[in-house]
Amino acid sequence: MIIAPSILSADFLNLGHDLKKVINAGADILHLDVMDGHFVPNLTFGYPIIKKLKQNFDIPLDAHLMITNPESYIPVLAEIGVDYISIHQETVYHLHRYIQMIKDYGIKAGIALNPATPISTVFPIIEYLDFVLIMSVNPGFGGQKFLPLALRKISDLKNKAAQINPDLLIEVDGGINHENAKEIKKAGADILVAGSYIFGSDDPSIPINLLKNL
Ligand code: DX5
Ligand code: ZN
Repeated sequence: MIIAPSILSADFLNLGHDLKKVINAGADILHLDVMDGHFVPNLTFGYPIIKKLKQNFDIPLDAHLMITNPESYIPVLAEIGVDYISIHQETVYHLHRYIQMIKDYGIKAGIALNPATPISTVFPIIEYLDFVLIMSVNPGFGGQKFLPLALRKISDLKNKAAQINPDLLIEVDGGINHENAKEIKKAGADILVAGSYIFGSDDPSIPINLLKNL
């Protein structure tokens, strides 16, 4: 299981310190929630912070773009050197075009789906995708409760991918903790994003190990 702490729940006044802790504790990738105040009712951080992370930490960066015009940000994120980019299905008309754009930069390309967005919206281009991000909360904030409706979406997507793109990774994001992680894994998740559960612990190796050894 790949564990991706969401830095949204880190202490932004002590970001470097908090991130060192989760990396030493065994985090596999860092999940970066980029928000624009349009697609979601919240603002987070952008290029300057992501650039600093890239310069200071040797860990893959996973940019989850909760913004209405994600295509405008892909070239700069590529230049900074992020490793994964997901764009929301709900934000663009030309999903295939922008997935191609991300892949042309050599970045792993994914589509994120809101809780109410059917997984069938990605089926026509499933073979072009490196991953799909299933939102298990409505995007915009950390610390929300896991929505069980995500479980069926994960298993249905896993079954579909098995026929067409068995390498497809399924990333699940929102409300994940040790109580629900086992069933999320059983449904077919490959990457677990967790914010408040990991950063809420004084010793992040405890939640990270619990999530890794389900
Ligand atoms: C929500 C973000 C999530 C969030 C997860 O919009 O996409 O990545 O930070 O935080 P928790 O694990 O606290 O639900
Ligand atoms: Zn996220």
